[in-house]
Amino acid sequence: MTSITWLGHGSWLIECDNHRILLDPFLSDNPSATAKPDDFFDCHHILISHGHFDHVADAAQIAKNSNATVIAIHEIAQWFAEQHQIEQTIGMNLGGQVTLPFGTLKMVPAVHSSQLPDGSSGGVAAGFVLTTGGRRIYFACDTAYFGDMAHYAGGVDLAVLPIGDLFTMGIEESIAAIQTIQPTQVLPAHYNTWPPITVDVEMWTKKVREETEAEPIVLPVGGSVQLDSTLAK
Ligand code: NI
Ligand code: MN
Repeated sequence: MTSITWLGHGSWLIECDNHRILLDPFLSDNPSATAKPDDFFDCHHILISHGHFDHVADAAQIAKNSNATVIAIHEIAQWFAEQHQIEQTIGMNLGGQVTLPFGTLKMVPAVHSSQLPDGSSGGVAAGFVLTTGGRRIYFACDTAYFGDMAHYAGGVDLAVLPIGDLFTMGIEESIAAIQTIQPTQVLPAHYNTWPPITVDVEMWTKKVREETEAEPIVLPVGGSVQLDSTLAK
């Protein structure tokens, strides 16, 4: 059983059986988050998609609290090791895959920028495809629409896509992405955190239903979706 919980913005808790994985934890300064970094002393891996503050903000503290392994593109993994003395890191790069205790994780392209908060280079932005328990989950993370989503994530069980516009794709292009990827289910992310990325999520849901074959699932912050046998293809 895999459970995916929205922590607000681009932050997710992924639970695969007994493994707890955080993606882009941004909690303390996130006006939409209800969880706090100290809620995650029990965390095994932290995935970082890119260097922006709203994705790396609480990762170092949580990694220190929990001794979690930080997984990121090479430049960001090195930054956590050198600037934050994080002992366990895995640096990877676009197109690469790593086998972890809970499944396989592939780092895939994202069309976005990636400077770290102190001005260091974060390499380039990434997304992730996680294969666990026979399910494939695509976290697009911060990105514009791009056609190669079909190659990397075509037919996934669950796609997590940004819809907030301004910094990432908005509603219109998320629909194009869903048409390209053809996921069974789709979750929206990176919206309604602040006024500039406020969108009408009801309109998004309606468009997904009308214009794609995917099932839209709008979670409240703290809400979860379970990937069990009902999702099996
Ligand atoms: Ni960003
Ligand atoms: Mn962002």
